Amino acid sequence: MRIVVGITGGIAAYKAPELVRLLVKAGYEVRCAATEHALEFVTRVTLETVSGAPLYHDLFASGGTEHISLKDWGDMLVVAPATANIIGKVASGIADDALSTLLLAFSGKPVVMAPAMNSLMWAHPAVQRNIATLKSWGIRMVGPAEGELACGTSGVGRMAEPEEIVRSVATLLQHTGTLAGQRWLVTAGPTYERIDSVRFIGNYSSGKMGFALAEALAEAGAEVALVSGPTSLTIDHPRVTLTRVESAREMYAAATSLFPQCRGAILSAAVADYRPATAADHKLKKQGDEGMTLQLVQNPDILATLGGMKQAGQTLVGFALETDHELENAQGKLQRKNLDYIVLNSLRDKGAGFGVDTNKVTILARDGRREESPLMSKREVAELIVKTVAP
Ligand code: CTP
Repeated sequence: MRIVVGITGGIAAYKAPELVRLLVKAGYEVRCAATEHALEFVTRVTLETVSGAPLYHDLFASGGTEHISLKDWGDMLVVAPATANIIGKVASGIADDALSTLLLAFSGKPVVMAPAMNSLMWAHPAVQRNIATLKSWGIRMVGPAEGELACGTSGVGRMAEPEEIVRSVATLLQHTGTLAGQRWLVTAGPTYERIDSVRFIGNYSSGKMGFALAEALAEAGAEVALVSGPTSLTIDHPRVTLTRVESAREMYAAATSLFPQCRGAILSAAVADYRPATAADHKLKKQGDEGMTLQLVQNPDILATLGGMKQAGQTLVGFALETDHELENAQGKLQRKNLDYIVLNSLRDKGAGFGVDTNKVTILARDGRREESPLMSKREVAELIVKTVAP
């Protein structure tokens, strides 16, 4: 695999040679393209030495067509660091030097950017708008991370570490296209069950695991229908279609109508098992000292319903959040709901479960195989689940 590393003029450019070195070590062929400003921070000799290839930085050096031949040569373009300037130029279609010209020519192949800038610049609406534009075109962002910045302050804006960038590159290249042509359904988030016009019964699910799963499936090439309960999360991926619902019954209607066209479904939503028997359309008044009783009725079980609808060739994956007899309970659910895999979250594990960015799971397969993950980011857990259930 061949990677073009683009370097722009931010202080984090001093980490670019390390990134190139790690990519070469991981077995990739690398060539570098740098802006004039990048060469204020890192030298041509360093970049040519670590990559073992001539640096591309002069648009007119070899007849002005090098950006096209580099585009043909590379399987992926990684821009690290990516300044606010290069992000703005690409979002606006400006090609006024070697790297920006290469970026516009690099169509149909994966592009990854590792933004790095001061946190005030990162937060600027123009930068955020440009990032959203690039993401909507399928450009992957790694970072920025939070931490100390070169200007002496700290905040969001540090370039992701070279090791993290290499990991993203590896996953993207490994997965590109393996699920191409497949449709997958993912449910995510909590459900809200209405009590009256201003109150509901809900739960603490953030939706992070489901959104990470949708992204991992989409990156593996699948078209994803993501059905989510109320959450503040958003997703910007050209192959993910997000349907927002509120209650378990709305999620049930969306999921059961989408499932027949899907190759598989991963249900990670924390669906309320019960809802109030009646939902008042006005605000209920206080009932006084005697308290009040809410009558609850059971919601339909989406996972069990899909288990009943499942046809040969479809894969159905459920989640189980357990506190005791975890493996036994999860295995029981897998059989009862006719699943192919069940992902077990144990509430005993620190750093796993609701709200947090990490998770630790055990994936049980119908045939008894078992895969245990260490504590990892929800994104990494999602990639492991996708690799296991859709190899
Ligand atoms: N689930 C669902 N519809 C429901 C309830 C749960 O689709 N009405 C799905 C969840 O998305 C998850 C799995 O079922 O994938 C596990 O949910 P859980 O509530 O743990 O399972 P239950 O079978 O309801 O078992 P129990 O509450 O007894 O643990």
